[in-house]
Amino acid sequence: MNAPERIRADARPAELRTESVSLHLGDRRGGVQALDDVSLEVRPGTRLGLVGESGSGKSTLLRVLAGLHRPDTGDVLFRGSSIVRRRPRELAELRANVALVLQDPRSSLDPRMNVGRTIAEPLRSPLLRRDRSRQDAAAQLARVMTEVGLDPEAANRFPHEFSGGQRQRIAIARALVTRPAVLLADEPVSALDVSVRAQILNLLLELVNARGLTMVFVSHDLAVVRHLCDEVAVMKDGRIVESGHLADVYAEPQHAVTRDLLAAIPRIKV
Ligand SMILES: Nc1ncnc2c1ncn2[C@@H]1O[C@H](COP(=O)(O)OP(=O)(O)OP(=O)(O)O)[C@@H](O)[C@H]1O
Ligand SMILES: [Mg+2]
Repeated sequence: MNAPERIRADARPAELRTESVSLHLGDRRGGVQALDDVSLEVRPGTRLGLVGESGSGKSTLLRVLAGLHRPDTGDVLFRGSSIVRRRPRELAELRANVALVLQDPRSSLDPRMNVGRTIAEPLRSPLLRRDRSRQDAAAQLARVMTEVGLDPEAANRFPHEFSGGQRQRIAIARALVTRPAVLLADEPVSALDVSVRAQILNLLLELVNARGLTMVFVSHDLAVVRHLCDEVAVMKDGRIVESGHLADVYAEPQHAVTRDLLAAIPRIKV
């Protein structure tokens, strides 16, 4: 890439961004400063790995980016517009464009809803439905099921009839059915059987490549992050203590937390 191109690419506004976000969770006397002055920029097309020890605030930050938590102070912007004021139209746009995949598909899928309805449900938002026919929705459902490796014939079945890995495929299809630009994933394979983790990670990587998605991927496994991401941000006690290009951070970690996380990667040939 030549220099002018790089300048142009970097000048594009961030897809998602937090500005000095702080958030206290729990009651006033107890509780914890889950996020403490976090400023983060996710540029279009980046795959950002969000890492840190347990309790450092990764999931909380992801929920703030998804519009599920409102910060006490600071701002969250999607394509330059604040989502903190939560006007319905802006929230609906955020929901359609920023998808969230959680750790455990057992708790994120409604057991009483069949797979087809589960996956297509985000299309039922009135703000999205306006110019989409029933036929479009059916075609979109079949397409996304195929894309994640599920047989569209399985649409009438229920989540409990599927294995953990397949259930995570259902959750991923649901997240992608509105054709979002950003995928937020919170440890999407850590609740799964070790034998299917690589399949789901590779599926995510294929989807991110094929659709040109921007991704924020939460993990405390830096080997997985190396496989999927090109940037990394390291959290500790609700703060981002280090961030940058993955290769730079991995080669010369500046913070003790990063060094500890890197030391936990099993020594395998690179
Ligand atoms: N609903 C809640 N009420 C009170 N405290 C909370 C709540 N949710 C999270 N916390 C606290 O906020 C801090 C950040 O939690 P968070 O879940 O964001 O961490 P995490 O980095 O995702 O950890 P893990 O790797 O274990 O998933 C922790 O101290 C946690 O105990
Ligand atoms: Mg978490």
